[in-house]
Amino acid sequence: MRRCGRPNAATAVAIRVTPLPPPRAIHRRRLASLNSSYQPASLAAFDMVANRPSDPGHDPRDIHFSVPQVHRLRTTWEVAGDDFDELLGVLHASTDPDQSGGPDAEIEPPHVLIWADEEVMAASPRVGVLAKRLAQSGRVHVVGGPRAVPGGEEAKNSPEVIERLLADIHNAMLDRRSYIIAIGGGAMLDAAGYAAAIAHRGIRLVRIPTTTLAQADSGVGVKNAINHFGKKNWVGTFAVPWAVINDAGFLTTLPDRDFFCGFSEAVKVSLLKDAAEFERIMRRAPAIAKREMPIACGVIEASCRMHLDHITRGGDPFETREARPLDFGHWSAHRLESLTDYVIRHGEAVAIGVALDCLYSTLVHGLPEAETRRVCDCFTMLGLPLWDEALDDFERVLAGLEEFRQHLGGRLTVTMLRGVGDPLNVHVIDRVAMREAARQLKGIATQASPPSPAQ
Ligand SMILES: NC(=O)c1ccc[n+]([C@@H]2O[C@H](COP(=O)([O-])OP(=O)(O)OC[C@H]3O[C@@H](n4cnc5c(N)ncnc54)[C@H](O)[C@@H]3O)[C@@H](O)[C@H]2O)c1
Ligand SMILES: [Zn+2]
Repeated sequence: MRRCGRPNAATAVAIRVTPLPPPRAIHRRRLASLNSSYQPASLAAFDMVANRPSDPGHDPRDIHFSVPQVHRLRTTWEVAGDDFDELLGVLHASTDPDQSGGPDAEIEPPHVLIWADEEVMAASPRVGVLAKRLAQSGRVHVVGGPRAVPGGEEAKNSPEVIERLLADIHNAMLDRRSYIIAIGGGAMLDAAGYAAAIAHRGIRLVRIPTTTLAQADSGVGVKNAINHFGKKNWVGTFAVPWAVINDAGFLTTLPDRDFFCGFSEAVKVSLLKDAAEFERIMRRAPAIAKREMPIACGVIEASCRMHLDHITRGGDPFETREARPLDFGHWSAHRLESLTDYVIRHGEAVAIGVALDCLYSTLVHGLPEAETRRVCDCFTMLGLPLWDEALDDFERVLAGLEEFRQHLGGRLTVTMLRGVGDPLNVHVIDRVAMREAARQLKGIATQASPPSPAQ
């Protein structure tokens, strides 16, 4: 039997000792020779453009590849009415055209399951009408629904909702070529999107967002999530929706509070990307406050387009970089939501968070004070708050910075503004200045009354 361990002294004298390289060095040399000789045949056919030797730290053994994605956004006035064909048009057959066995082959209509926010279902007959028209269209096979899903943050706060949605998919025997049509606010869509993304590793999801916020921002996005461990969006995935239909008809039943919420995201994206759009929102704020639909829908559409453009052309749809510019104002907004047990709406928390970071940007990064005042005025005209009493214990809000960092990974990276349309990413937040920004915001919020847009 071979014995391991130290040789005894007598044996050691007889052995000529050659110093051995440390075992890890041997392993590395073997690996290096293996790696240099290994050329998988498939690589020859591989699109080497995808290999990016110019990347800093590029290792020739690393293979970059990209997966084509399609984003289908449709804007309609009444998808349950005259614009119904826009919905039918995005529900493609479940067989690939080249595998259908020729022109006479039977094409199986895709299976469709409909989920709807319970408050949307209660507010108007639209969901029922839509479901009936789909069933009668002969183009799809409606295998379930419309099923009611809790609306608002409740949908994201209970894992039982996800369990129920997954059971629904299972019972309806959906496959990856089936469709889930999810109709509702951003919270319900986030929960529905998560269930759709994890069942069979992804079922085609058609979102019909029914709030201004979901139409202006989240509905067109590629994320879904539910809350966990008392933290916002802690569990979720990146998944590109099959299609998104922004329908004005659904917005008509929104209560005022939720109607105004979406415009905080519209202001946010305009401050980051388009100073002229911010001016337009400022001018249109009084009409939005009166719920003049063509004007309100124009602002929502512009916001949605800017978000979509960022996702499809910004180069980082799945947020692999440290910076997440669309989350301007969100480090405190997400924290406020959890501190208030989600009593504050996301859109309201975003208005407060954006105003706070504008004040900080003025104190630290040179954003002109007049611009910051206009942002605050704009939110006030839009019926959005600038303060919540949860901010009074500001140290607890500041803890949101670390939560935000963990959610993104890497260094803390927060977007601030040097000017309107001129963002910058910072890695350090001066807490003294942030406390001062909060103090000033409280003062502005206390005096706030809707100014005239000419001011
Ligand atoms: N995934 C993302 O990229 C992303 C981005 C931004 C926000 N979000 C999430 O979106 C959520 C906020 O969404 P929201 O602002 O749409 O609010 P919401 O989904 O919480 O809806 C607000 C309320 O309005 C009701 N409602 C929705 N549509 C209605 C209609 N047409 N008529 C009557 N009532 C209606 C809902 O049932 C709910 O009670 C938050 O959870 C936020 O985290 C996600
Ligand atoms: Zn947001």
